[in-house]
Amino acid sequence: MYVARPIEWTDGGVVMLDQRRLPTEEISFTYTDYQGVANAIRNMVIRGAPAIGVAAAMGVALGVVKSPAQSVEALSTEFPIICETLAKTRPTAVDLFWAIERMKRRYAELIAQNAELGEIRQEMVEEAKLVHLEKKSTDEAIGKYGAEFMPQDGQVMTQCNAGALATGGIGTALGVIRVAFGQGKRIHVLVPETRPYLQGARLTAWELQKGGIPLTLITDNMVGHFLKAGKVGAIVTGADRIAANGDTANKIGTYQIAVLAKENSVPFYIAAPISTFDLSLATGEQIPIEERSAGEVTHIQGVRIAPDVHAAHPAFDVTPSRYIAAIFTEQGVARAPYTESLGALRQKS
Ligand code: MRU
Repeated sequence: MYVARPIEWTDGGVVMLDQRRLPTEEISFTYTDYQGVANAIRNMVIRGAPAIGVAAAMGVALGVVKSPAQSVEALSTEFPIICETLAKTRPTAVDLFWAIERMKRRYAELIAQNAELGEIRQEMVEEAKLVHLEKKSTDEAIGKYGAEFMPQDGQVMTQCNAGALATGGIGTALGVIRVAFGQGKRIHVLVPETRPYLQGARLTAWELQKGGIPLTLITDNMVGHFLKAGKVGAIVTGADRIAANGDTANKIGTYQIAVLAKENSVPFYIAAPISTFDLSLATGEQIPIEERSAGEVTHIQGVRIAPDVHAAHPAFDVTPSRYIAAIFTEQGVARAPYTESLGALRQKS
């Protein structure tokens, strides 16, 4: 089954598929400095929480490799600047900060071992490649746990794009759907278009079509209608940050889907790696929500659709955990009370 490859480390730099151009054009860029990688994250060339983490790890490695530093001391002066630049790109997806922290830990280990400049450069690249590789196995494990909860036959709804494009693996929510489909479950996916950035219409529809998984594209305001019709067996979405009590930040629109799911007795699931947990936050109230440009609401793909008025664009919302039937992770399935189950899964990882 076709699996998109949004990011690759190559000898020439970090290659990214430009997700802003999909589905009409499949164009890749090679980034040769960490500032370029930071801009690519900020400007949505790459997006989706785990993929942002992979990009940040590769950005840190690129910064170390391309640094003009001639000594470990000089590199150590530049290193925090590289990390800080990448950390300032997008605030909500905790995978970004998780990946940067991991690269910092590896750097500190190498310094403690008195590693030489060449070895530090090589090892940091290896660490970034490992982050990418691990996303693949993580997604597969999430897929296996989640597939059991998918209906044998029928409709499943998702939101945004939590597929291969968003992770660098097979996807989290779409990974669950892929595994279930591969097991022979006759799944048909309802894909809300996900205004304003249209990750559903442009990316999820593209991935599912390429993977041969049947889908129907709907507009966001059709969600309630389809849930009420009683033919949706389950909803599965990804996550950008999960607080200790299970409250989950994900793409704007997820909250209203979860509320409508409860009203219509449709189970609403989250599929996410443990790197998405932020157990330092007691509840979702504390999750920072990215506010993106109003131009992404007043315009679609550069074409104005509204007069020149004030427009709001919170890019994420928080779904309270009482609406979440279960959270699929690579270490197993968490259920309420999440404060206990998420803590136990984190311990296992
Ligand atoms: O703004 P985006 O496209 O980065 O938002 C992506 C999402 O909200 C995804 O659902 C989430 O990151 C999970 S991706 C596996």
